[in-house]
Amino acid sequence: MHKKRIFSGVQPTGNLHLGNYLGAIKNFVDLQNKFECIYCVVDLHAITNRQNPEELKTNILETIASFIASGLDVEKNIIFNQASVAAHSELAWIINCVARIGWMNRMTQFKEKAGLNKENASVGLLVYPNLMAADILIYKATHVPVGEDQKQHLELTRDIAKKFNNDFNCESFFPIVEPLIPKKISRVMSLRDGKKKMSKSDKSDYSRINLKDDKDLIDQKIKKAKTDTAPIPSTVIELKNRHEAANLISIYASINSIDIDQVLNEFGGKNFSTLKNKLSESIVEQICPIGKEVKKLLKEQSYLNDILAKGAKKASLIATDNLKEIYEIVGLKKFT
Ligand code: TYM
Repeated sequence: MHKKRIFSGVQPTGNLHLGNYLGAIKNFVDLQNKFECIYCVVDLHAITNRQNPEELKTNILETIASFIASGLDVEKNIIFNQASVAAHSELAWIINCVARIGWMNRMTQFKEKAGLNKENASVGLLVYPNLMAADILIYKATHVPVGEDQKQHLELTRDIAKKFNNDFNCESFFPIVEPLIPKKISRVMSLRDGKKKMSKSDKSDYSRINLKDDKDLIDQKIKKAKTDTAPIPSTVIELKNRHEAANLISIYASINSIDIDQVLNEFGGKNFSTLKNKLSESIVEQICPIGKEVKKLLKEQSYLNDILAKGAKKASLIATDNLKEIYEIVGLKKFT
C-alpha cells in the first residue's frame, strides 16, 4: 500500500572507508535507477559523540562529495543533510515517547560505543536509534540499504512503527521497513582482525581502506592485511573460522560483483599473495577514482552547498507534510 521509497544515511565523521562503500554506498548507487531515493548526511547523529565543529563542517561536505563521487546523481535523488530538516528532530521526540527504555537498553551498538563508562555516555547516544527511526519514518520510507551492523536499529524501527500504528489506532500509517543488506558482504571486517568490523574509529589506519587512500597506500595496506598460513580453500565450508581469509575473499567478490564461489574457483589452492595482488588492483581501480573526485569536489564548496540547499528543500516538502499528519494523529497542533 505504501509506495516503494528508499532512505538511508551516513554519518559525517570523516574517513569514509571500504566498509561504508561496499556495505551501503555502492547499493545506494544501484538503487537510484530503480526507485525514489533519499540519501542523508546524518550530522545530528554525529554529535552524539563530541565533534570538533570546524571538522564537522568539512566532514559534512566530504560525505556529500563521497556520495557524488561514488556515482549518486544529484538530480535523480534527494541528497541533503539532516540538520536542514527540523522534522527529523521533531518526530524523534515523539518517538522518544513511543519507544521503551528497555528497547534502548538492548541496542548492542550503544553498548559497544558507550563501552565500560556507560553512565558518562551522552543521552543522545542512548536515544540515537530513535532519531534513526525518525529519519526513516518521516519519509514513510519502505526500504533501507545498510550494512549488517545497522540491522538491529532497523528491527527497532519496525517495532516503533508497529507500536505507533497500534497506540494511535492508525493501522499501516507508518510502513514496516525492510532492510536491504548486501548478500556478498554484509559486514566488511578490519584488515588487521577479521573478527572486528572495519571502522572509522579504529586507531590503526591499516585496519581499513579509506576512500581517499592513494594507490601506494592501498597496495601497502592489502599487502600487510592479516591472513593465515593455509592456502586459499576451494569451498565456502572450508572458510569457516578463517575470518581474515573469508574477509579478503568476500571483499574481492563484492568489489568485482562476482560470487564467492567464483573467487574460490579462481584462487583455490593458491597462496594469498596472488589474491592480494588482484585484490589491490580491483580496489585501486574502483576506489582511487572516487577519492580523487572527492578531493576535487571539496574545492568546489559552493557547488556542494547548493546541492545541500536544493536537497533540503525537496526533503522538507515531504517531511513537513508527513509531520503535519503525525501531529494530527498524536493530538498536537502547531500555531504558526
Ligand atoms: P554509519 O555512518 O556508521 O555507516 C554508514 C553505512 O555504512 C555501513 N557500514 C558498513 N557496512 C559494512 N561493513 C562495515 N564495516 C561497515 N561500516 C559501516 C553502515 O551499516 C551504514 O549503512 N546509524 C547509521 C546512520 C543512519 C542511518 C539512518 C542509516 C542514521 N539514520 C537511517 C539508515 C537509515 C550509521 O551510524 O551509519
